[in-house]
Amino acid sequence: MTQIYDQDKTYVLNLYNRLNINIVNGEGSYLYDDQGNSYLDMFSGIAVNNLGHGNPAVKAAVIKQMDCYFHLSNFFPSEPVASLAKVLVENSFASKVFFSNSGTEANEAAIKLARKYGRSKQIDKTEMLSFHGSFHGRTVGGMTLTGQEKYKENFKPILPGVSHVLFNDCQDLASKVSDKTCAFFIEMIQGEGGITEVSEEFMTELVELSKKHDFLIIVDEIQTGLGRAGDLFAYEKFEFTPHIVTLAKSLGGGLPIGAMLVAPELESVLLPGDHGSTFGGNPVAAAAGTAVLDILTSNGFLDDVKNKSIYLIKRLEEIALAHPEIIREVRGRGLIIGIEMYDDLANKVKAESLAKGLLLNVTRGNVIRLLPPLTISYTEMDLFLSIFESLL
Ligand SMILES: Cc1ncc(COP(=O)(O)O)c(C=O)c1O
Repeated sequence: MTQIYDQDKTYVLNLYNRLNINIVNGEGSYLYDDQGNSYLDMFSGIAVNNLGHGNPAVKAAVIKQMDCYFHLSNFFPSEPVASLAKVLVENSFASKVFFSNSGTEANEAAIKLARKYGRSKQIDKTEMLSFHGSFHGRTVGGMTLTGQEKYKENFKPILPGVSHVLFNDCQDLASKVSDKTCAFFIEMIQGEGGITEVSEEFMTELVELSKKHDFLIIVDEIQTGLGRAGDLFAYEKFEFTPHIVTLAKSLGGGLPIGAMLVAPELESVLLPGDHGSTFGGNPVAAAAGTAVLDILTSNGFLDDVKNKSIYLIKRLEEIALAHPEIIREVRGRGLIIGIEMYDDLANKVKAESLAKGLLLNVTRGNVIRLLPPLTISYTEMDLFLSIFESLL
């Protein structure tokens, strides 16, 4: 046992299944441990390190901001915060942004906005919907929206007024919405749920019902956002405009920051005093965020991601075809890709990948969830593919 592992076990509340590895450095697509081993990171800190580890532009922005100030109270406007909000607005449907520290807090803000919006129309218009299989965070609101019983069964009572719709099931949706619905929370591609994508048919129905019953469509892009799915936002593939989008994970380039992007017609729902956060929109994290967005929106960056996606998915499909007894399906978009395996094989591959210098993540029990840095090179993708195939 490494000393750090031991110390962590002794003093940190035991909520995570830690690996017994002491990472001391990260650069590009690799993490390095204190034994001199390198690991090709195929899940990027669970979709946080979209630009890889130690991005120099992000680091420079952080250092520059730290030379000015680390924190400002909400009594002051802050240049890096206002700049990040401007970039987000200029590159989305939104007219205003609220900053939080994390994804689940961005969703909490959206819950409050949706409830206030609903109650302004009709006092009992407070019901919310999301999908079975979804994941929206760990706070009480986020956990309640999450459509997986295992995350909430021990913590009841949870938020009232939340129901779940069967994934991509238009009939179930129609039977559950009403004039009492104030919002539908949706991931365009379910991340924790096993890389499953919403259908065009479902979105068409959802948009129609949202107009009919006047409820908000709140897109949780905490995992899929900011280039992960090949576009800046995964919703862009579909023909609709969200009312709210929530972001976090990759927004701060590794620093904690979340955001709620709000459409123009909703920007006056929450008023001074309705919501807030001491640390939400930390200036250092915001400076990192602007550096992240500068790169993501630079010429050709997202085209590059799309090309890498085509290459990686095609190669994985060839491997799947050669191993039909092991791989059930390859699915995904951009660089959020699921490899569904039979039985417990995904966990076996994951366990063995470590000794070969590969970091893999498994979700929903049998799906290898690939979330490589968007900056991964073709050589690195080839290395991943050859190690992965050797493990099969
Ligand atoms: C889709 C989605 N929503 C919300 C969250 C919660 O974000 P955070 O862990 O930053 O609170 C996550 C985290 O995995 C997520 O993937």
